[in-house]
Amino acid sequence: MKIIIYAHPENKTSHNAMVLREVISNFKNLNKEFQVIDLYEDKFNPILSNDEYNLKANPDPLVLKYQKMIKDSDEVVFIFPVWWNSAPAMLKGFFDRVITPGFAYNFKPFPTGLPMYFMDSIGKYFLEYNFIYNIVTRLIPIERHLTGINAVVINTFGGPEISYRLYHKNPSEVIDQAILEFCGMKVKRINWFNAQRFKEIPQSIKDQIATSLKKN
Ligand SMILES: Cc1cc2nc3c(=O)[nH]c(=O)nc-3n(C[C@H](O)[C@H](O)[C@H](O)COP(=O)(O)O)c2cc1C
Repeated sequence: MKIIIYAHPENKTSHNAMVLREVISNFKNLNKEFQVIDLYEDKFNPILSNDEYNLKANPDPLVLKYQKMIKDSDEVVFIFPVWWNSAPAMLKGFFDRVITPGFAYNFKPFPTGLPMYFMDSIGKYFLEYNFIYNIVTRLIPIERHLTGINAVVINTFGGPEISYRLYHKNPSEVIDQAILEFCGMKVKRINWFNAQRFKEIPQSIKDQIATSLKKN
């Protein structure tokens, strides 16, 4: 099963709505079963409450439903606009409340000795090198419960690529690496820059969508 997670307040005329229609049309052409989670349409409450934080609240059926959908899927497509160089609060709240410890990951005891020395002395300064990043992420002791699920993150930006590269804590680091890869997902990313006043999706973005979606 494929899951599309749509986090935009408008689902008919926006650039994100065009992306949603394009992804759905690809899944239909590929004959894939899919379900759409439209967070605004579902009126999802993105706020992690005091009771929920303290594990005193009854589980929210919508959270349980989303967790089951993700667990049963082999591919999750995230569609959202970049707001303040990150995800809209609605999607951030989805991560806070749905991608929870126990469900999506668990911490194990931190390593000591040489691995810890490596991470803290050398690793932390050279994380921009893929080679070091890969070693450090393997050393970090986490059970990654969402391993085996592919994620495709499709972002629209009002601005050009330079503003994406300018600030290092851009959504590819925060969303793709620190949330989705952290929980074990394999992530592909599609960036649609300068997404303003388009009447339809540029062919290059359509091509990226077609090649990123899982064919099997
Ligand atoms: C609250 C807010 C914050 C935004 N922050 C950014 C930003 O940090 N970088 C950027 O390139 N565009 C930013 N934008 C522009 C949106 O990304 C852009 O309008 C949107 O991706 C276009 O797609 P849409 O028509 O589906 O809304 C922001 C827009 C809003 C409403």
